[in-house]
Amino acid sequence: MRPIPDWLVVESVSDSDIGVVTSGKEAQIDLVERTGPDGRTCLVARKRYLPREVHNKGELEALGFQRASTFRHDVRYREGRQFRKSRDRRAVERMTTYGKHLLQDRWTGHEYDVMSSLWEAGLTVPYPIGYSTDVLELEFVGDRSGAAPQLRSARLDRAGLARAFEQLVDGLTVIVAAGWAHGDLSAYNLL
Ligand SMILES: Nc1ncnc2c1ncn2[C@@H]1O[C@H](COP(=O)(O)OP(=O)(O)OP(=O)(O)O)[C@@H](O)[C@H]1O
Ligand SMILES: [Mg+2]
Repeated sequence: MRPIPDWLVVESVSDSDIGVVTSGKEAQIDLVERTGPDGRTCLVARKRYLPREVHNKGELEALGFQRASTFRHDVRYREGRQFRKSRDRRAVERMTTYGKHLLQDRWTGHEYDVMSSLWEAGLTVPYPIGYSTDVLELEFVGDRSGAAPQLRSARLDRAGLARAFEQLVDGLTVIVAAGWAHGDLSAYNLL
């Protein structure tokens, strides 16, 4: 087990909002300063998922999927079956407020689990701090003056690019060795 990073303030006495890092259609990321009982502070990226439907029906139809009503039912049924308690299964199938909560929880929980196992394997992902129903808390990559730039706008010189490429190959090697494939690798998703 990798030890918990020493910069991390584990017990929060207060969290103060510093600003918005990014805001997209699925999630907003806020920068938060966390203060512990001894007055130590650390920066946390708080990724908050906006309430989401299981999928966007227009988008799926455009891609040639089945008629939305059949598909919706199918998705709900399939998602629902993954819950052991029949009460939970029914809630997801019917998409009640409680059912939506269950799915959302699994969503942030899944992102957290994948990041944890990759962090554990030594990958340079932000340290995943924790999650709740619609919030994922991560190590903030950056400092008080702002977030680290995405690779697409980092304006690296030749030597910097060579190092970034080497880091990328090392990272992908760790991901593959851990049994995963990156589903969204781009210069937007590398800092
Ligand atoms: N922990 C972090 N520290 C600093 N910046 C971050 C952090 N997490 C995310 N960001 C910034 O916010 C952007 C969006 O975050 P992320 O890629 O996790 O969201 P996403 O839901 O995948 O959005 P998209 O679909 O646009 O990729 C990142 O590309 C990065 O610039
Ligand atoms: Mg992204």
